[in-house]
Amino acid sequence: MNKTILITGGTGFIGQRLVDDWVTEGHHVVIYSRRPDWVKRRWGGRVEAASSLATLNQRFDWLVNLAGEGIADKRWSAKRKQQLRQSRIDLSRDLLQWAQDSQQHFDLVLSGSAIGFYGSHMDDEQQGTGFTEQSANGAGFASQLCRDWETVAHEFDDLCERLVILRTGVVLGQHGGMLARLWLPFSLALGGVIGSGNQVLSWIHMDDYRRAIHFLSKNSVAGAVNMTSPQAVTNRQFTKALGQVMSRPTIAPMPGFAAELLFGEMSELLLEGQRVLPQQLLSQGFVYDYADIHDALREIHAHW
Ligand SMILES: NC(=O)c1ccc[n+]([C@@H]2O[C@H](COP(=O)([O-])OP(=O)(O)OC[C@H]3O[C@@H](n4cnc5c(N)ncnc54)[C@H](OP(=O)(O)O)[C@@H]3O)[C@@H](O)[C@H]2O)c1
Repeated sequence: MNKTILITGGTGFIGQRLVDDWVTEGHHVVIYSRRPDWVKRRWGGRVEAASSLATLNQRFDWLVNLAGEGIADKRWSAKRKQQLRQSRIDLSRDLLQWAQDSQQHFDLVLSGSAIGFYGSHMDDEQQGTGFTEQSANGAGFASQLCRDWETVAHEFDDLCERLVILRTGVVLGQHGGMLARLWLPFSLALGGVIGSGNQVLSWIHMDDYRRAIHFLSKNSVAGAVNMTSPQAVTNRQFTKALGQVMSRPTIAPMPGFAAELLFGEMSELLLEGQRVLPQQLLSQGFVYDYADIHDALREIHAHW
């Protein structure tokens, strides 16, 4: 049955693909965006744009809340940290207030979060087989941000039949996200292991992410869901796989202090990581097209 869907972050790297899928499936999509003209250019009349919640007086079946300033876009100054929090937590609170005031009752709320929830770890050994949805949150700025974002999301529980919190790993796809930053240095043969190379990258191919969202919308899963491939890799394994796929050497490592100089506190995203296991998706029988990093990178490279 066709749904009426409200999405924040629908203009982003992930959001655009989800909106494309929903439009193809015949759903009615409204994107809450600061750039309504861009939405009109991108989708023509097939998608509605709203730059103010006050103008939204229809009933929505699904709410999908992905908006937020880019975690890895700028150094984490005190001001930037505030922007990262405001663009997620304050925006989610505004959405909650609007939903209460307009007496929404959603079938499904999909709310953004990230695997940073589990904290950043340099040492893979301490992480055992990986963090599952039952694991506790970690320490550090990114973890606290995810935790606070999820706390607001839980306030939607009373306003929906089912709340799913998307603890998203690093999404790998064409022309966006982490790979867009790595593509040029790797294609110039400047790619290399970062720091010790033992830090773990929990990733997911964009196509599997889209399919997992579709799967979750049809399923009865509620609560936190780790949106990652079941086969996380170390930075060393990832670097080697990307170099192989691009037929480029990856000999010279990038020392940890260089990453720290370049990225400040944000370097924890590069120098540390977390081994995450998508227990919910696996136990519900979700089948990945790209569980293996080589398969994922080969497919992305072929269509870049
Ligand atoms: N990509 C990944 O690998 C990854 C991994 C883990 C978690 N996530 C999370 O998943 C969500 C979507 O990721 P993405 O890669 O698609 O992000 P993205 O490409 O950076 O897009 C983020 C969206 O958030 C909106 N936004 C940004 N700053 C905002 C602000 N100050 N106020 C209101 N809206 C703002 C933008 O919408 P408008 O410009 O239209 O207003 C934009 O479309 C993000 O919250 C991200 O943190 C992503």
